[in-house]
Amino acid sequence: MKKRKVRPQAWIALIVVILLFIAAAFFIILNKKPALSIEFKENKTTIEYGTADVKAESLVASFNADEVIYPEIDTLKVGPQKIEFVLKSKDKEKKVEYTVEIKDTQNPQITMRQETVEISVGQSYDFAANVESASDAVDGALPFKADPSKDEVNYYTASSNADLTKVGEYTVNVEAVDQNGNHATASYTLKVVESDQMTNGSNGNIEPTYINGILIVNKKYGIPADFGGYNEEASTALETLQAGANAAGYDIPLISGWRSYDYQVGLYNAYVETDGQEAADRYSARPGFSEHQTGLCFDIGAVDDNYGTTPEGKWLAAHAHEYGFIIRYPEGKEAITGYMYEPWHVRYVGIDAATEIYNSQTTLEEYLGVSG
Ligand code: DAL
Ligand code: ZN
Repeated sequence: MKKRKVRPQAWIALIVVILLFIAAAFFIILNKKPALSIEFKENKTTIEYGTADVKAESLVASFNADEVIYPEIDTLKVGPQKIEFVLKSKDKEKKVEYTVEIKDTQNPQITMRQETVEISVGQSYDFAANVESASDAVDGALPFKADPSKDEVNYYTASSNADLTKVGEYTVNVEAVDQNGNHATASYTLKVVESDQMTNGSNGNIEPTYINGILIVNKKYGIPADFGGYNEEASTALETLQAGANAAGYDIPLISGWRSYDYQVGLYNAYVETDGQEAADRYSARPGFSEHQTGLCFDIGAVDDNYGTTPEGKWLAAHAHEYGFIIRYPEGKEAITGYMYEPWHVRYVGIDAATEIYNSQTTLEEYLGVSG
């Protein structure tokens, strides 16, 4: 049989064709644009409520695209949140949806001013006054709510079944609920004691006490909430004193005169809020125990510890008695009066008593023979 001989040119042509095929395949593979795609690190990501600067980039493990447009994440919106990534190549665009879960897992924080608060029997007390703060890590201070409803959020409240008319030791419960319903509770002890058992602050004697016709109001001698008011005689005496000061070349304006029981509640609570109860008790009377409620005293000149060293303050200290007034809380007498030095607080007692107290450089407590 005659063997057919393949011509070498044919072999070459075949090899060229095969090489061309391989080259074309490579060209196609290398030039093939990959499909637009994105891979995430997790199937679903949970983010803590209020976390700042969470970038959608941080959720992505890898992607195939020329460009990715990242969505914003609102971490202040609790719950599942659909976000959309846009993948782009020269001629294509693809949107990919992803879900993040915003969760608030942090409970609010409650801090008390004191572990134990002491009041005297019969005294009123605002249970929230001992709460220094109730706040959420993200939303900040929670507002006080006296009577929250069952499903309410974003508040704190303070309650107790304490009977303030009876001596005893009670628990005050404080509850805080943040915007997202997270709860926190805390409590403190409220001691209601007899007046002579008080280690600090006012007592429960709320019947007005007159000695030699002079009304005594201090931490041991209180007055009922509806007692007192503007006092004509004391106010007229004050005007005469101010005129006397003017004649001597001084101006001694009235700053605070009669204050209602309710006003003193707000004032005292605000002081406790700022300085704590122990410090507030040294310069502010508790409601029902302030001379200001009687209308017989006035803060005049300037509420300033140094007022007594000013010419006006010195004139006042030297002449108040001529008009029936005493500097009610003299310097160095805190142990007797119960209050720090107040060069601006004058009390009307009438010219005779005022002159006797002035001449003996004493206090109203010592003059009347009572404790403060
Ligand atoms: N600052 C005086 C003591 C008062 O609050 O009545
Ligand atoms: Zn005063």
